[in-house]
Amino acid sequence: MVKRIDEVMPSIAFGGDYNPEQWDENVWLEDAKLMQEAGVNLVSVAIFSWSVLEREEGKFDFSWLDRVLDILHEHGVGVSLATATASPPAWLSKEYPEVLAVQENGVPYQIGSRQHYSPNSKRFRYAVKQLVKEMANRYKNHPALKMWHINNEYGCHLAECYSDESLSAFREWLKNRYQTIENLNQKWGTNFWSQRYNEWDEIQFPVNLPTFYNPSQKLDYKRFMNDAIFDLYKIEKEVLREITPDIPVFTNFMYEFKPLNYFGWAKEMDLVTWDSYPDPREGKPYRHAMHHDLMRSLKNGQPFYLMEQVTSHVNWRDINLTKKPGEMRLWSYSTVARGGDGVMYFQWRQGKAGAEKFHGAMVPHSNDPNSRVYQEVKQLGNELKQLNGLAGARGTAKVAIVFDWENWWAVEHEGKPHNRLSYLDQVYQYYRSFYEKNIAVDFVEPNGNLADYQFVVAPMLYMIRDGEENNFEQFVKNGGTLIVSFFSGIVDEQDHIHLGGYPAPLRSLLGLTVEEFAPMADDEINTIVANGEKFTVDTWADIIKLEEAKAIATYKENWYQDKPAVTIHRYGQGSSIYVGTNPSDEYLDQLISGILQQLEVRAPLEAPKNVEIVERVANDKTFLFILNHNNDPVTVALEEGTVYQDCLQGKQVTQSITVQNTDVAILVC
Ligand code: GAL
Repeated sequence: MVKRIDEVMPSIAFGGDYNPEQWDENVWLEDAKLMQEAGVNLVSVAIFSWSVLEREEGKFDFSWLDRVLDILHEHGVGVSLATATASPPAWLSKEYPEVLAVQENGVPYQIGSRQHYSPNSKRFRYAVKQLVKEMANRYKNHPALKMWHINNEYGCHLAECYSDESLSAFREWLKNRYQTIENLNQKWGTNFWSQRYNEWDEIQFPVNLPTFYNPSQKLDYKRFMNDAIFDLYKIEKEVLREITPDIPVFTNFMYEFKPLNYFGWAKEMDLVTWDSYPDPREGKPYRHAMHHDLMRSLKNGQPFYLMEQVTSHVNWRDINLTKKPGEMRLWSYSTVARGGDGVMYFQWRQGKAGAEKFHGAMVPHSNDPNSRVYQEVKQLGNELKQLNGLAGARGTAKVAIVFDWENWWAVEHEGKPHNRLSYLDQVYQYYRSFYEKNIAVDFVEPNGNLADYQFVVAPMLYMIRDGEENNFEQFVKNGGTLIVSFFSGIVDEQDHIHLGGYPAPLRSLLGLTVEEFAPMADDEINTIVANGEKFTVDTWADIIKLEEAKAIATYKENWYQDKPAVTIHRYGQGSSIYVGTNPSDEYLDQLISGILQQLEVRAPLEAPKNVEIVERVANDKTFLFILNHNNDPVTVALEEGTVYQDCLQGKQVTQSITVQNTDVAILVC
């Protein structure tokens, strides 16, 4: 039986990527002592060490790693041990060039950076399996081993491969999916532009084409690559499960990462972990918060680990801004508030060589224990130790936003009425409104369990697979409130139109049909009128014909003036609302506030602007996080009559609390 994460790590995990193979042995002991001082209890080791573990084919040298693990264990630091497969050694591609991934133009990638492997290469898969077996057998009984970190950020640099072996694998994958070539022809709509296939080996990759690709083919290529990379993960997982059945396994995800369907992946992971690098220039903490909420939702609310973030600045943007004093700590607490049971960094010690030597770290080049960065790290590490009983605590959302990776792929394919629609931007737009009101939000798949929610939003859900509409109908029938936004319910899982009037599968639920789409030019805006108030809209206007629904906002201008822009339909015991345009934040805020009020869904506390309030609930306690993103102190009124324990200050508070700028309070009641 796999151990639960909170059994393995009963308190919040704190640490980072540790690359001792880049340092002389005499630094290792110093590292371990500093880690102890900084409150580090977990480090990720060996992520990029294949070439020093297996120096030649089949010749393994684990002696250095043995010593590293022993030192860490002696200093009370647990290990998230990487399988070291993220960057294959030079001898492998020299001996077996077929392991190299190939670009669209047919040119193979080369050794000299990282992740240059083809996920479909059988030789690569074999080499991976051999290494993982050796690692697992070597360390299965090591007391420092807490969990397995499989590979690293799958697909990060390379999520497509155009090698001959990948092409054969693609054809096999298609055969499995469609069984007969005739079926594939139908599912890809190949009578269009004379694309019919007689034989499987006539099928090519959807690249190097004179003009538009076949969208069904492209979608399947994306599914195929997701599955190919996922298989690679599962190969490793299987070996690890066999040799170390009780040790949790995972890989680390990324934010805003389109190529991999993380909802599917999370089902094969014991813990969701991910890497977060918001640009300090961006100044939109809601985006950062949304990433956390999405990651927490991938395993039905099970807490996640933030496996990588940076203390100060990255090195891979055009200009790499440094987080200002307190910001790293504040953002780390936002992570914890939203379900993070682990706060980790890339990396422990700032590198002295290689492409990432200017990337920030927990211990900077100066090696100065009084440096600002190390001091902040140490403060946070030691504070996190005080949060007893928090690990494992859950969120409390009554609102969910539908999120779907395949929809993301399909809706952003070329050839659309508007070709600069961004799925993420649509999702962010709705999420922002909840975030600013401090309303907790989960994310769900279109066929996910909606029963625990009162309010569900499905932004731009272009693709609805067979039967998914029933989930939404059931939710609304049972009293739920649903918002669906424009360009939803348009295609099936093959990216073929659902005939029968847009949005055919949602037509009876929404009580309307969309007769036409009227996308807007870049500088074009329109106005909608709702309850006598005017709001601007842009990007898109649906020309809606009401059936059972009623208009709650109408367009003011253009040839479709006075026609419905936003509608409501009472359905069963609930309501479905359709937003047929891209409204201003002001309109969305008003619409969403009205619904929340009606449903009596409230923030845990009233708070000034830019103050994030989040709750996590454990068996017997509620943890209340108050995060002040402002440059000035704020005072927040607490619930009348409740006595709170301030975890970080170690004292009781009642009535109200003042939180300094860029600071946090964690209250327990
Ligand atoms: C991540 C990666 C790390 C490191 C880091 C730098 O994408 O997993 O190995 O490269 O970025 O920000």
